[in-house]
This record gives sequence, C-alpha cells and structure tokens, in this order.
Amino acid sequence: MKKLSLLLIAFILLIGTQVKADEGMWIPMLLKKYNIEEMQKAGFKLSADDIYDINKACLKDAVIGLGREGSPFHHFCTGELISDKGLIVTNHHCGYGAIQNHSTLEHDYLKDGFWAMSQEEELVNEGITASFLIRMEDVTAQVLDSITDETKEVDRQKMIQKRIKKIQEATEKDSDYRASVKAYFDGNQYFLSVYEIYKDVRLVGAPPSAIGKFGGDTDNWMWPRHTGDFSMFRIYADKDNKPASYSKENVPMVPKQSFKISLKGVNEGDFTMVFGYPGTTTEYLTSHALDLMTKVDNPHKIKIRTKKLDLMRADMDASPLVRIQYSAKYAGVANSWKRWQGEITGLKRLDAIAKKKELEENFETWANSTDDLKKKYAGIVAEMGALYTELAPTSLARDYAIEAGLRGAEAVTFAYNFKKLAGLTKKDQKDIPDLLTELKKSSAEFFKNYNNPTDKKLLAALLKMYSENLTDEYLPKEIIAIRDKYKGDFEAYAEKAMAKSVFADENKLNNLLNNYKLSSGKRLTKDPIFVLANSIYFFYEAEIAPKYSKILTKTTKLQRIYMAGLMQMQKDKIFYADANSTFRVHYGKVSGYKARNAVTYDHYTTLEGIIEKDNPEIFDYDVPQKLKALYQTKNYGSYANAKGEMPVCFAATNHTTGGNSGSPVLNANGELIGLNFDRAWEGVMSDLMYDAEICRNVSLDIRYVLFIVDKFAGAGYLLDEMNLVK
Ligand code: ARG
Ligand code: ASP
Repeated sequence: MKKLSLLLIAFILLIGTQVKADEGMWIPMLLKKYNIEEMQKAGFKLSADDIYDINKACLKDAVIGLGREGSPFHHFCTGELISDKGLIVTNHHCGYGAIQNHSTLEHDYLKDGFWAMSQEEELVNEGITASFLIRMEDVTAQVLDSITDETKEVDRQKMIQKRIKKIQEATEKDSDYRASVKAYFDGNQYFLSVYEIYKDVRLVGAPPSAIGKFGGDTDNWMWPRHTGDFSMFRIYADKDNKPASYSKENVPMVPKQSFKISLKGVNEGDFTMVFGYPGTTTEYLTSHALDLMTKVDNPHKIKIRTKKLDLMRADMDASPLVRIQYSAKYAGVANSWKRWQGEITGLKRLDAIAKKKELEENFETWANSTDDLKKKYAGIVAEMGALYTELAPTSLARDYAIEAGLRGAEAVTFAYNFKKLAGLTKKDQKDIPDLLTELKKSSAEFFKNYNNPTDKKLLAALLKMYSENLTDEYLPKEIIAIRDKYKGDFEAYAEKAMAKSVFADENKLNNLLNNYKLSSGKRLTKDPIFVLANSIYFFYEAEIAPKYSKILTKTTKLQRIYMAGLMQMQKDKIFYADANSTFRVHYGKVSGYKARNAVTYDHYTTLEGIIEKDNPEIFDYDVPQKLKALYQTKNYGSYANAKGEMPVCFAATNHTTGGNSGSPVLNANGELIGLNFDRAWEGVMSDLMYDAEICRNVSLDIRYVLFIVDKFAGAGYLLDEMNLVK
C-alpha cells in the first residue's frame, strides 16, 4: 500500500514536467533563466539580451502597450515601432475607436479608410497613450516580507497594498517614469514594471473597413482569415524626445529601437515569436470555477448579448448613420460574445473539466502525503468547490446586473453620470457651473452615437430578460415595480419612460442643462430613466457586489494557495504566470491545423481567398474595386510570395490572448513578419486551457500591410521611413 502510493506520487510529480513547446507567455527578464535554450533549439537565432536588456537598446524597445490616459497600464492593445520617426503599426480594431471618432457621414474613415499624406494631416487623438517598458524587477521579497501563512487575509491585503504603493512611489520619485507593481501566479510573486508613457499619438492611416475589418464579426475568431487588420499611428514627443501632451510644437518621437521588416515571409514550421501585452488568462482555475463559468455564467451572458446584437444589427442594416454610430459598440459586444461560445465548445472537446478534476485528485493525494503538506493544502480544492456553489446565484445576479443593467440600455448608464448633479444641495451650489461644463461635454459625446429607437428596444428587451431570469431577491426594486405595474409589458414601459426622459433626447437635456438651477435637481431625480439607473446601481453596489466580493476574497486566497501547491508539487515544471497586462514573450511556430474530422487547414491565406469571399451584397464582404483590379493584374510588386501569390494572414502556435492584438510577430532573426490580431475558432479556449494541437494565433502577413499601403492606398512615402530587408 505504502509502496503503491509512493509510486503514485512519483508519477504525479512527473506529469506535466516536460515543458510543452508553444504553450506559455513568458516574462522577458526571465527568458535567460528559463526559455532561451529552448527557443534557440526551436530556431531562434538571437540571444536573450537581444530581446530584453536594460543597458542597451534591444527588441523590447520597439514594442509599445497602448493605453488610455488615466489607465495607461491597462493596455488594450500592443503596437510596434517601424521607423525611427515614431511610426507605429497596430491592428485596425485597436485603432477602431480613434478612426470612428474622426468619422462623420461626410468623412467616413471607417468605410473609406484614411491616409495622412503628410505629417500635418495626421489626426490628433485625445487620451491614447503609448508606453515603453524601461525595466522590470522581481519585488516579491519586499511585497511579501514577513507575511506568513498565519497572517490574516485582510492584513495581508493591506500590507501588500501599502508596500506596492511605496515601491511605486519610490520608483517614480525624481523620475519621468511611471511604475506599476502587479501580482503574478495568483499573488505568489510580484514584479515591478517601469514605463515611459507617451501621450501624443496621432492617426496616420487606416485601410477601409472592407479591408481592415474584412469579414467583420462573421469571420472574427475564425480561420481561414482574410482580414487586413492594421492601422498606423505616430508617436510625438517634445523637442527633447520626452513625453508631452499634444502640442503643435511636438515632433515625431525617435525611438531607441524600431523593427526591421522582413519581406521573406513564412513557411510552415518556421520559428515565430510574439511580443506584447496579453490581458488576462486563467489557466490554473479549478474544475469548480470552470463549471460555474461554462455552465451558468457564460450561457446567460451569451443569451443577453445575442439579444443586444440582434437589435443593434437590425437598425444598423437599415441606416448608414446608425451603422457608423453603433459599429464600434457592436463589435465590442460581439467580440466576447463569440469567444465565450467558442470557449464552451473548445473546453468540452478537451474534456477540460475532467482533466482539471484528475489534476485535483492527484493534488489531493499529494497534499495528504506528508503532515506539512497536509496542513497547507489538504482539502482546499473541495473547499473551493463549496465556495463556487455558494457563489453561483450571486454570480448570475451580477452577470445580469452588469450585462442587462449597468451596460444594458445606454440611456440608463448615461443617466447615472448625473447622480452628483442631482444630489447637490445649497452649500455646494458653487460646484454647479464646472459640473455642467463637464456634463455638457459628455452629453455631446454620448448623443453623437445615440439612436433613441434602438435604445428603446434595448431597454425593453433587456429589462424583460433581467426580470425573467432572476428571482425577486436578486432584482433591483425598480425593476420589480415596473414589471408589476406594467404586468410584464416592458415595451409599454420603455415607450413611456423614453418619451418622458431627458436622457434619451438631446434637445430636452440641453434645455435642462442650459437653464439649470439648484431646483432643477428634482427634474432629474424624478426622471424615470434616472430612477431606474439609480435603483440598478444602488442594488448592485449595496447587495450584489459586496456578497460577490466576500466570497471571491475567499476563493482568491485559496486559489493563491492552490497555485503555490501546484508549483510545489510539480517542482521541475517551468510554470508561466497568467496574463496580467504586462509585457510577455510568446514563442511557437507557423502551423496549420486539423480542425475536425476530415478538415485540415493550411498555415496561410492569400488575396485569392478575399476574391472568393467577395459579395457586394454583404457589407463585410464587399471587396473594393481597386483591390480587385490589383488582383486581376497581379500587381503585387515585391510583396508576393515565391509562388507569386499575395499572402494575407498566417496561423501559428503562439499562446496569445486579448491585448496581444497588434503585437509584432517576429522571425528567428527578430525581424517583423506579421501583426498578431486574433485566434482561430477551435482554439479560443486557450485562455483557460491551451492545446498545441489546435490553438492558433492569427497574424496578418506584414507583406500584405506593405502592399495595401503602397499599391492600394498610394501612401508609399511611408515605406521610405521603414527598414525593409529581403
Ligand atoms: N477577436 C479579435 C480580438 O479579440 C478581434 C476583435 C475585433 N473585431 C471584430 N470584428 N469585433 O480582439
Ligand atoms: N483579438 C485579440 C486582441 O484584441 C487577440 C486575441 O484575443 O487573440 O487582443
């Protein structure tokens, strides 16, 4: 018996010890220690210092995280420098908000594309930031100093927050840099990232959506893919090359490093490396967490969003103006909606829950093998199971509150911005003018992209779903009141409420704001949409969020211990930390895949495939005439591949996630061969469980980017800035 369990433990220790190539997103400062040998074996020709070196310019200096003023470390996408004049390339869908912002019916840059023909024509974008990683440092010892297993969880969190603040402040003191300390491995390690953040990022160019968003949401998350998903920006700096807010005097920034662009292209099996800012993954969750997510939370979220999308789509198809107004919002809602569906299928196919359960059983056996381990780890997975069961109803209520309430009908979200104004009393009368200025500005922005009839339908449909899928205990009071008063006829309610509300009608709101007095507050607090918003927010903040976070604090703690246990159990395995919006390196190889029975995909697509998909009847597949002409004359210049085809996208095994969009894809020599922008349908569960057989990142071939800029857009002058290598 004893012998057997020892054998079993030895076996458990062995599983998972081989580092699987392809899987993982690695911390650049640790490549030398953990990865470089394997990378070189896989074909990489440079050294770890060529990627990350704090003493000399290296590849990392040509990569930027795109953020927003106010949350510059929350990188929504990645971009890279392709000239020594601050020129950057990223995805079309990363620049989408900016492109949309500059678009009107007269100048529809979304539809027609935009190219600045000189630097003067480049368009200023308020609030977009580009951060360069200066250096990283392992600060685990400082952050966790003197914290033990006995430290109470609340004390632990307080101590950690305080120390993080201290480290960040000390780093930022007397420096132009910004510092951010983040948790890795579920709070078992902490790293400091130091950034230099540029604040003047201008739009240089974008292809029309018929290229940059070709295939739209139908092709999104799919392979084979033909989307020319790129846009170009330029970073500006002050005369000393330092970050500065927008000013006419600013000049193109001179980066320490920019990428050489390779025209050699890719072959099946070639080494590829992706560099960037992956946002969030959760690879080490328990089966219980996965269960809740895939069987309860996500199916409901999908259902809610399906409704939203159907309603928006119908109105967008009926009006070009509504299409412009809602295209960015639509894409935003559709993106996770579709991924969640792919995740559920992908996890089923991997039998992920059973695999997790097996690991958990092994963990439990191991945890019971010595007294020390027992004290720390025995029973924690079962404990998490109980917590997730407890969490389920609150979690679902939270999903509805967010998806159907806080981010439901737009007028509701918008109305809540007026809470402060509505609540002012005599003594803060002096605040009114400033507040009004601010609100008038946000109101103009809001109504620019607002269509009342669409929102009315959303309001009715979402409230109906909200009220029908939860018991009263989990519903905001106002929703119960509306349901009862209108006997479930939310359309009748929406009709009435929207007709009365100032938050669904720009003129009415302007009238009110232009003549605002303290006594006008009553008009706001009685507004039906304001009343609803207030009730939804209040209920969420007072009832749902605290319950949710109370349980989550417990699971977070157990997850941290479980993570530490896994790392201790599989001592020889090289673990990678989940994505957390910090800089990572991903390596793998160019590769097609077998999607399902009898279906195998090639590793690349060509312009031929765009022509095959051409359909002028469908907005997302309406290939521009000029592109067709270029195809007919095979006018590909030096961008064609050896077979004379115009390559468009390629698939590879790099383990990427949201935030990696726009990331440079490099070859073995560190030259730019593509732009990461998506993943292939069968493998989108890679945020939760990666499988090298089927998980593929999708990249745009850089030669297609150059072809479009040069031959299609006639902006070939930009190529003069670039460093092309044959
Ligand atoms: N799926 C890609 C990513 O997660 C692209 C999303 C944008 N495109 C779209 N059609 N919604 O960012
Ligand atoms: N499309 C994603 C992004 O925007 C990338 C991905 O999830 O694979 O970052």
